[in-house]
Amino acid sequence: MHATPIIQIRGLKKQFNPPEGPVAVNGIDLDIYEGEIFSLLGPNGAGKTTTISMISGLLTPTAGEVHIAGHSIREDPIAAKRAIGIVPQELALYPTLSARQNLTFFGKMYGLAGKELKQRVAEVLDFTELNDRADDPVQEYSGGMKRRVNIGVGLLHRPQVIMLDEPTVAIDPQSRRNILDAVIELNRRGTTVLYTTHYMEEAQELSHRVAIIDHGEIIALGTQEELTRLVGEEDTLILGVPDAPQAVIDRLAQVDGVHSATLEDGEIRVLAKNGRSALVELIGVINAAGLALQSVEVREPTLEAVFLHLTGRALRD
Ligand SMILES: Nc1ncnc2c1ncn2[C@@H]1O[C@H](COP(=O)(O)OP(=O)(O)OP(=O)(O)O)[C@@H](O)[C@H]1O
Ligand SMILES: [Mg+2]
Repeated sequence: MHATPIIQIRGLKKQFNPPEGPVAVNGIDLDIYEGEIFSLLGPNGAGKTTTISMISGLLTPTAGEVHIAGHSIREDPIAAKRAIGIVPQELALYPTLSARQNLTFFGKMYGLAGKELKQRVAEVLDFTELNDRADDPVQEYSGGMKRRVNIGVGLLHRPQVIMLDEPTVAIDPQSRRNILDAVIELNRRGTTVLYTTHYMEEAQELSHRVAIIDHGEIIALGTQEELTRLVGEEDTLILGVPDAPQAVIDRLAQVDGVHSATLEDGEIRVLAKNGRSALVELIGVINAAGLALQSVEVREPTLEAVFLHLTGRALRD
């Protein structure tokens, strides 16, 4: 299906202050494909930032290799870095300068100049919707606006891949929405995205594929469907059937692919491997018993459930 990985990671490892220091990343292998939104999902201290920092050449690995667009970050860092934009977890902006001045400064660091620089800055201000306040000092911006400038910096040189490290932490819901929409739009325009988060809802909404990282290791990788099936998580169907007799509930439990059917708070809860395909037969049983089906809800398993299953811990702090 996918041809070439745009980021290829092999045996990546980082131990801080060896030999006693913490092993933050413990042997990661990963391929990120062109055109996808890939999320690294993991709790605080899982090793997300350390991984991103090694991919972008800011941190030297203890072991392992990273290639970006075919270039080794170790042997050919200039070519490798040209292909990536990074939006770091910690804001890196000059507070007394405006958004336009910050972007111009960082643009020069990327080797942009003259008309091209001016045009890229205008383009980025437009994309991040900062035009109205572009000439006010960044220190007067809200947290969400500062984040958007930070993202803008990562986009200036029009990278093939953008890496965003927890860009929605500690900002208001509306700014979060803007950032998620910007990520989706960037991807729609062809940019590959590597996104880190500890919010499973974000990983779920954005990603084509997700890697769950914990204690410096990738403990699961795939599409959401693959991940939830991998751990055998089942869909929950909630059927609103008033006054269903136990005999009918027992019959529902016999339907192909159904694990269990129980009555809880006046609703029938059915656990099934694939809820949607079991639904037709379940409805048939209810109809045959002459009962009325008033509501149906299918709850698919979440990445939260996958994390819990794999680690025995909740993903949330
Ligand atoms: N410079 C450093 N020196 C020593 N230990 C470090 C350093 N940077 C990170 N660590 C440790 O490495 C581990 C991974 O940290 P990292 O910042 O990569 O996690 P993270 O997944 O980004 O977490 P968060 O969600 O909190 O940002 C943690 O145990 C952390 O304490
Ligand atoms: Mg981090």
